[in-house]
Amino acid sequence: MSGDAGGEQLLEGLVEHASLKAFTSFGVEASAQYLIQVYELAQLRQAIEFARDNRLPCLVLGEGSNVLFVNDFPGIVLVMRLQGIVREGELLRVAAGENWHRLVEWSLSQELFGLENLALIPGTAGGAPIQNIGAYGVELMRFVERVRVYDTQRAEERCFSAEECDFGYRDSVFKRAPRGRFVVLELELRLSDKDCPELGYGPLAAMFEGKPATARQVFDAVCALRRSKLPDPRLLGNAGSFFKNPIVSLAKVQSLRERWPELPSYPTEDAELLKVPAAWLLETAGWKGAVRGQAAVHEAHALVLVNLGAATGEELFLLAQEMSSSVLQRFGIALQPEVQIL
Ligand code: FAD
Ligand code: EPU
Repeated sequence: MSGDAGGEQLLEGLVEHASLKAFTSFGVEASAQYLIQVYELAQLRQAIEFARDNRLPCLVLGEGSNVLFVNDFPGIVLVMRLQGIVREGELLRVAAGENWHRLVEWSLSQELFGLENLALIPGTAGGAPIQNIGAYGVELMRFVERVRVYDTQRAEERCFSAEECDFGYRDSVFKRAPRGRFVVLELELRLSDKDCPELGYGPLAAMFEGKPATARQVFDAVCALRRSKLPDPRLLGNAGSFFKNPIVSLAKVQSLRERWPELPSYPTEDAELLKVPAAWLLETAGWKGAVRGQAAVHEAHALVLVNLGAATGEELFLLAQEMSSSVLQRFGIALQPEVQIL
């Protein structure tokens, strides 16, 4: 499809009034004023120039596995498809559009270890540093050497060292920046040639009963655990955990335990702060399996909102608001969304 914007000839591959439904794992209907799938750097530069010339906001999407569109997007959506992996010893340079899980599988096949706990996380390599993906006791930040980005504000490429990325729990400098400022082009990871997997996470440790395991065995165990808990977005629209696990003071946990002695908690780096599973708070508040029209809370996991088939973004958003209000009222804890609400 092509047309005219601001008197300019539109770019090749640019689609006007594009449906975003197939571009997110929630599968809700929304439209973008423009959408382009970016396979080459030159195409990306042209698309960014086009946005600047026409004063359009930009939004980058990888595989859309951590976004919820509540409104149409009044600008240009750049779907990141850049491909390529370069290996130099234990260092990998991965183009932003590479599928994350395939990268994990490929690294194991290369006898490069470390990513096994992060198996089966949906999305792209470029999406991974945005919220510093994590699972089963490991976060991406452990492996990041550098992240190469295009800074749309300065109109230049930049490299962020791991320190400059300022990673935190489901957080980074990229997530905090104004939307569309940094386009991740390439992720540089340092893996290890030593097969020495991380087995500290409770449910994983329980599976191996304290016995040593190989990275391949951990990869298989993580895949099995994830498949038993989380719905497959190809079958049931979802974005994984909708909220972050809240980090609260030790004093708060102790006071809640007077009423709910079974309240689980996990240590953080700060002895005065504990992480509490949002899923437990939500299940205790009665949300597991709740249904509001076509939006629902997954029957097997209270932290996962699902699209029963024809949910709107607004329906899911209103359900999420209702859930967080009830947790605030009952436990005095404010849940923060993990999913990017647009
Ligand atoms: P998108 O959803 O497309 O985008 C997410 C955000 O990143 C948006 O703000 C977008 O603008 C930005 N973005 C994406 N690519 C780029 C880029 N190249 N440059 C700049 N900005 C970009 N996450 C975890 O951490 N741990 C889990 O265990 C986990 N489990 C999940 C399970 C399921 C079933 C699902 C559906 C999701 C899960 N997630 C999990 C969330 C999701 O997989 C991750 O956040 C993933 O990294 C998102 O990647 P994406 O390419 O789909 O990003
Ligand atoms: N629980 C309940 N009810 C439920 C589900 C869980 O009470 O319906 C309680 C249980 O006590 C359980 C605890 O919550 O032990 C933790 O549950 P789970 O092991 O499923 O992990 P989670 O805290 O819900 C986090 C991440 C996941 C990640 C897993 C494994 C966040 C927000 N979520 O989930 O990441 O895969 O741990 O490490 O930190 C994501 O970010 O999208 C995501 C799926």
